[in-house]
Amino acid sequence: MSPFHLTRTLPEDATEAALRADVLHGLTRSPKTLPPKWFYDAHGSDLFEKITELPEYYPTRAEREILIARSGEIAAATGARTLVELGSGSSEKTRHLLDALTGLRTYVPVDVSESALTQAGHALVAERPGLDVHALIADFTARLTLPNTPGPRLVAFLGGTIGNLLPDERAAFLTSVRSLLAPGDALLLGTDLVKDPSVLVAAYDDAAGVTAEFNKNVLAVVNRELGADFDLDAFDHVALWDPGNEWIEMRLRARAAGTVKVPALGLAVDFAAGEELRTEVSAKFREDGVRHELADSGLELTHWWTDEEGRFALSLSVAR
Ligand SMILES: C[S@@+](CC[C@H](N)C(=O)[O-])C[C@H]1O[C@@H](n2cnc3c(N)ncnc32)[C@H](O)[C@@H]1O
Repeated sequence: MSPFHLTRTLPEDATEAALRADVLHGLTRSPKTLPPKWFYDAHGSDLFEKITELPEYYPTRAEREILIARSGEIAAATGARTLVELGSGSSEKTRHLLDALTGLRTYVPVDVSESALTQAGHALVAERPGLDVHALIADFTARLTLPNTPGPRLVAFLGGTIGNLLPDERAAFLTSVRSLLAPGDALLLGTDLVKDPSVLVAAYDDAAGVTAEFNKNVLAVVNRELGADFDLDAFDHVALWDPGNEWIEMRLRARAAGTVKVPALGLAVDFAAGEELRTEVSAKFREDGVRHELADSGLELTHWWTDEEGRFALSLSVAR
C-alpha cells in the first residue's frame, strides 16, 4: 500500500484557542456570528456528505458533471504531479481528477476535519497504489506550509467553499493561494453561480431538514468544546437570499428570549426572541466577478467551464 501521512500544522490547543476567540468575538458582537469552519466536527462532516446527496443540493452534482467532462482537459492543461486540495472533505469528486491526472505523484488534502481527512486518506491509499497521500489538518485561511513535493502543482478548491468567505477574506485568501503557485502551477476553483433565488434557498433549506441539523451542529460543537448550554431545539434554521450581496445566509433564530452560558469563556450571552445568529454566507458568482477577483490577486483566468444547465462553474487560473 502507498504511504499515508497525516500532519497537524496547528497543535490541538491552537484549534481550541481559535474556537474560543471566534466564539467570544462572534457572540459578543451585534449581529451575532459564528464562522462556518466550526460546523465540521466528525458529525458535521457526515451531515455535509448527506447534504451533497439531497435532491435540492445541486452544486455537488453540477460540479461532478463538469469534472467528469473536463478532467482530461484539466490534466492536459496542467500536467500536475502534485494535487493540493483545500477543504477536501470526503475527496469524493476529486476521484475524477485523480483518474485523469496520469502523471500525479502526490495528493495533499487540506481540511480542518481530521475525521474527513483520515477516512478519505485511508480509502485513497488502498484504492491507488503508487499515490502518495500527504494530508494536512490546517485552516486554509491561515498561511499554509505545503510539503515539498514534485511540481507542477495544481491547487484545487472545490464545492463552492470559496463562497463561505466574505469579500475581504476572499481577497486575502486568493492572494495567499497565489503565493503558493510557482510558474507552471495552477488553481482550479469551483464557484456556484447566481441563479433563481428559489433554487438557491431550497438548496440550503431542504425538505428533510438535514441542512437545519447541520446548521445547529455548530451549537453542539460549542456546547461540547466550551461547556455551553445552547438548547438546539430553541433555535430555528433560516436560509435567505441577500440580493444586494448575491449570497445565501444561513442563520439560527432564537424562538424565545433566553441566556446561554459559555463557562469556558465566563460568558453569558443574551438572545432576544427572534434574534438571529449568522452561521454562514455562501456567495454566488458571475464569470466577470470571478475573473476580476482572480486578477486582483495576481491570477489570470485561462479556462471557464460550466455544467449544461449553467448552475456551477469550474475555472482554471495561473499566476500572472
Ligand atoms: C462545503 S464543504 C466542501 C467539501 C468538498 N470539497 C466538496 O466539494 O464536497 C467545505 C469543506 O471545507 C472544510 N473547511 C471549512 N472551513 C475550513 C478552513 N477554514 N480550513 C480548512 N478546511 C475548512 C470543511 O471541513 C469541509 O470539508
